[in-house]
Amino acid sequence: MKTHYPEYEALIRERLTPKRYRHSLNVMERAVELAGIFGADPCKAELAGLLHDAEKSTDPKILLQSLEKSDILLSDADRASPQLWHAPCGYLFARDRLGIQDADVLNAIRYHTTGRAGMSLLEKVVYLADLTSADRDFSDIRKVRKLSEQDLDAALLYSLQFILGDLVAQGQPLQQDSLACYNQLALKKAFRAGDPGGKANVRAGAER
Ligand SMILES: [Fe+2]
Ligand SMILES: [Fe+2]
Repeated sequence: MKTHYPEYEALIRERLTPKRYRHSLNVMERAVELAGIFGADPCKAELAGLLHDAEKSTDPKILLQSLEKSDILLSDADRASPQLWHAPCGYLFARDRLGIQDADVLNAIRYHTTGRAGMSLLEKVVYLADLTSADRDFSDIRKVRKLSEQDLDAALLYSLQFILGDLVAQGQPLQQDSLACYNQLALKKAFRAGDPGGKANVRAGAER
């Protein structure tokens, strides 16, 4: 797919390793595809997909410095998760260095690793494009790809169940934004199913 943002493509090629550059193009393409399915703005999806990992190859020390100098507040869990710093730093890069002003595009970059409560359609599209791009290869990638084309919330919930479960199993801290995103989606699903109290939870609670 030829991009409408050749100057940003050149910039991304310069900043990233060849593998991450290809990943960025794949995410851009997948974001446009998902935007087409769900009616998100294809130009914004293309731009956010292309730029989402702009800081992925930057030294974590530099990323932390730039976060500490910024208007972004860091929790202890944020500080303990250097693998996530490139997302808010990508947001700062797009906003402050590239002068991008579109809040939805900026937030799609900022929350592409954690998600958050109240994600916009574009944010969901970019989050899932990153997870299901052509270069991704994990055990149930086909299932997540298919789900992401049918139901964005279901695909997000499924991926968060897996990601958060994995972090808990490893004894790693959880991000507030991911937890809030998970809770919102899980509650929405329970309400839809007519089980807002969660019978399983009530049962488990009664046994304690
Ligand atoms: Fe990323
Ligand atoms: Fe990515």
